[in-house]
Amino acid sequence: MSDARSLADIKSDLAAQVQQVMTRYPTTRSAIMPALDLAQQKYGGVDGLTYQAVAELLDVPEIWVFEVASFYSLYDRAASGRHHIRLCTNLPCLLRGAEALMMYLQQRLDVGPGETTEDGRFTLSAVECLGACEQAPVLMADKQYHGDLTAAKLDALLASLADQPAEDLS
Ligand code: FES
Repeated sequence: MSDARSLADIKSDLAAQVQQVMTRYPTTRSAIMPALDLAQQKYGGVDGLTYQAVAELLDVPEIWVFEVASFYSLYDRAASGRHHIRLCTNLPCLLRGAEALMMYLQQRLDVGPGETTEDGRFTLSAVECLGACEQAPVLMADKQYHGDLTAAKLDALLASLADQPAEDLS
């Protein structure tokens, strides 16, 4: 997995092969599966940082990559934390404070985007539009949407998730 690798490392590892794969498909979205295959071959699995790298290399929203990785059981996502928090950082959410909320989450969890907490409880990701802009700023925690976020709401959410088992994301 990508535990000791940075986002830049992963992008650099995969860039040439992903570029090559993209030429074989009519849209970049179609290239998500083969790009994830490449990542899995290289690292033995995929995780939050891998999704971010693949999304950036293909220029697609990270949530699309996560959807593919979570739908198909052939991807080993063991490195993900028990709960995956995906905070939208697209423009409407940014305009309503998503950046400050991302900083707050990073401080609370002591991780950066694409990383998993040391205790394995939480993986944090910055994602593109979650399709719920009317509730901006928005995040997905596992399969649940949480909108009109504030720092207090994040505190309550983290507290409620801390002792919950993971939802079945497969
Ligand atoms: S921009 Fe954040 S949900 Fe659409």
